[in-house]
Amino acid sequence: MKIISNVNELRNEIKALKTSKGGTVGLVPTMGALHQGHISLVKKARQQNEIVIVSVFVNPTQFGPNEDYDKYPRTLEEDAKLCEEENVDFLFAPSPRDIYDEYYFKNKETTLICPPYDVVNKLCGKSRPGHFDGVCTIVAKLFNITKCDRAYFGKKDAQQLFIIQKMVKDLNFDIEIIGCPIVREADNLAMSSRNTYLDDSARADALNISKALFCAKELFDKGVKDSAILIDTALAVAKNIEVEYAEIVSMNTFEKVDTIENKALMLIAARVNSNGSMVRLIDNIEL
Ligand code: PAJ
Repeated sequence: MKIISNVNELRNEIKALKTSKGGTVGLVPTMGALHQGHISLVKKARQQNEIVIVSVFVNPTQFGPNEDYDKYPRTLEEDAKLCEEENVDFLFAPSPRDIYDEYYFKNKETTLICPPYDVVNKLCGKSRPGHFDGVCTIVAKLFNITKCDRAYFGKKDAQQLFIIQKMVKDLNFDIEIIGCPIVREADNLAMSSRNTYLDDSARADALNISKALFCAKELFDKGVKDSAILIDTALAVAKNIEVEYAEIVSMNTFEKVDTIENKALMLIAARVNSNGSMVRLIDNIEL
């Protein structure tokens, strides 16, 4: 596995390997602090492609001014070990200056990809203005840098996956987006790099997020299709956490549904108090 930080070097290496090995290129974009959720994406990419690239980049343009950009966990050495075990070909780990130009650092602005307002200004986008513009922009840059054939995203970030699929369609990227199932800890907590922020009591509180989702799912499986009832049931379980939103949306449109007739998602974002600082976590379940 080659660890590369420079864009042109990565491009040249991919070109050379494509010439010698042939086949398709699979990309797994991440912000690092890799866990088994990320690795499930890498394994899928390895199964489906001759060349696999994992990117590790904590992308400044998707963090708001009061968010955790500075303290976001950076564990490149461990990340590299995990990727090597999965036979990744290239670990792309650029610095912000490898990705954004001087103009950006001077003016804090760059060319952005902005998905439609109604798609981004809800759920996670409501409390994180500009977040999905930053996500789409870095993902599009990674697509252009790697010229990948397939890219792998987790269903844990369901709105992100929906928005990226829309971007690919709207902008005619010739890339197949593969959505991968949520990987959970044994007790059902969704794996997340931000779980490293949780102390023991916060981790116990955080469990109420998945508990709430699974409770609603149980009721749904018993035949309850009314969103308000399912949400109330979830909220009753969501103790000791600050729920930012609990919503049910159509999987096809990401619009709210009152009664579940087709495939839907229940999504929760909540803040958990870990030793005085609030950790924001998200999770969802298919209904
Ligand atoms: P990050 O949070 O590091 O996640 C990278 C990918 O791993 C995302 O597609 C995410 O959905 C997936 N993932 C995270 N936890 C998962 C879990 N428990 N099960 C399955 N998949 C999981 O999402 C980002 O980074 C960034 O926004 C990025 C797309 C890299 C752009 O900067």
